[in-house]
Amino acid sequence: MKDVREEYHADGLTEADLHDDPLAQAQRWVDEAIDAGLPLPNAMTLATVSADGQPSTRVVLLKGIEGGGFTFFTHYDSRKGREIEGNARVSFTMFWQPFDRQMIVIGEAHKVDEEESQAYFASRPYGSQVSAAISPQSQPVTREWLEAQVEALQQQHPQAPVPKPAQWGGYRIVPTEIQFWHGRPSRLHDRFRYFKQADGRWHRERLAP
Ligand SMILES: Cc1cc2nc3c(=O)[nH]c(=O)nc-3n(C[C@H](O)[C@H](O)[C@H](O)COP(=O)(O)O)c2cc1C
Repeated sequence: MKDVREEYHADGLTEADLHDDPLAQAQRWVDEAIDAGLPLPNAMTLATVSADGQPSTRVVLLKGIEGGGFTFFTHYDSRKGREIEGNARVSFTMFWQPFDRQMIVIGEAHKVDEEESQAYFASRPYGSQVSAAISPQSQPVTREWLEAQVEALQQQHPQAPVPKPAQWGGYRIVPTEIQFWHGRPSRLHDRFRYFKQADGRWHRERLAP
């Protein structure tokens, strides 16, 4: 690994490229990744922290930038869900390798309205609805137990809609800080950090690479 060295060729990022609103800037970068056909353009690595201060991470999918934050869906009883329950402060990173772009968000996660979770659950393919409904996410299980649960639920509900479990739903991460990182040659990268001031307005500054 010590010999793996990637040179960044991108043109870089200037103040003039950036939107005053970091959520609009985030939307622009996600849209560009989607439009370019990058694999998993909405994958984000989400960090949560346990009650005793132990961070943990996992990949989830960003499903929207709206209502002042970033929305994803999961099980509220999962490890991440329980950790968010105890400490709403989270962070996530998105990395679009072919664009040499990284975005880092720091903020607080809040559950979305039940109606919003219902609507999104109903829009998922039948198989995903079944898996989400039977999975006690993050609990130890056997493959045989999982498959038996799927079979039982499929008999009960042979087609969509499958009822949404009460403990499945969305979180919206409301940011206090967003950083946009753009790779440049010889590691002289561009980094711009927005953070929310006491008066609620966004302040922007360039950070050293
Ligand atoms: C590409 C990718 C997308 C994923 N999307 C989600 C998602 O949107 N929601 C989710 O709960 N888990 C998703 N997962 C699974 C999570 O990474 C994780 O295994 C699961 O949420 C349990 O995490 P936890 O035990 O830390 O709470 C995804 C995994 C990958 C690799």
